Amino acid sequence: MIETRQITKAMGEKLILKDVSVTIGKGESVAVLGPNGAGKSTWLKIVAGLIRPTSGTVAINGMPKKKDNYSAQALIGYLGHQSFLYDQFSPVENLKYYAKLYGMKKPEKRIDELIERINLQYFKHEPLRSFSRGMVQRTAIARAILHEPQILLLDEPHTGLDQQSKSWFRDMIASVHQEGVTVVMVTHEFDQLVDVSDRVLIFKNGHLTEDQVLRGSVTLSGVKSLYDRQVLGS
Ligand SMILES: Nc1ncnc2c1ncn2[C@@H]1O[C@H](COP(=O)(O)OP(=O)(O)OP(=O)(O)O)[C@@H](O)[C@H]1O
Ligand SMILES: [Mg+2]
Repeated sequence: MIETRQITKAMGEKLILKDVSVTIGKGESVAVLGPNGAGKSTWLKIVAGLIRPTSGTVAINGMPKKKDNYSAQALIGYLGHQSFLYDQFSPVENLKYYAKLYGMKKPEKRIDELIERINLQYFKHEPLRSFSRGMVQRTAIARAILHEPQILLLDEPHTGLDQQSKSWFRDMIASVHQEGVTVVMVTHEFDQLVDVSDRVLIFKNGHLTEDQVLRGSVTLSGVKSLYDRQVLGS
């Protein structure tokens, strides 16, 4: 479970997040929408424990989130705008490094399986600096799910993915969702959320302006009109 209470974030004079309170239950799959600069990534980083709020609190599974709270950290897989990967290393080397960091005992099988799932078998020993944008993104996704986190925080995960990778990614989200993993996904791609999300949050100007549970067969046009009403006021 994720609880953010009255989160405010100020950068200098500017208020980036204003009083954001939201509770996300275990196993929910939530899409986070909103225009550029609305505060989505900032809120997600606060949930991930990468930055601190100016005021307000975050709790993960009922435990208040503090810096250096490693037990909570192991529960979380975070994919951000940056890949957090090392350019001079191959996918295998990067994943081995993170497996060690997460204290995984015998990660080889999991790493092999992931490399196959992201379809990089033929490039697994090549340095990332030779990779395309989408190949790096696929490796970053593997890094985020490597330790089988209970909570997956994804910031624009579809960036750079081709149609086949998007389809693989959608299946992966659906399957971890079914296993009971909590998924929070910031995205601008509405067609990628309709089958995999059961709730939508919309941010605008640092406020959480909409929190809607999606019921039954949600359509793309349904999500679009919800967004347009909130963001464009139409
Ligand atoms: N380190 C920083 N210093 C100053 N301002 C910042 C910083 N990080 C973010 N901001 C500002 O905070 C606001 C929210 O940024 P944030 O990245 O959370 O938006 P976002 O909703 O994720 O947007 P996008 O859809 O473009 O990714 C923006 O106006 C941005 O300029
Ligand atoms: Mg962002």
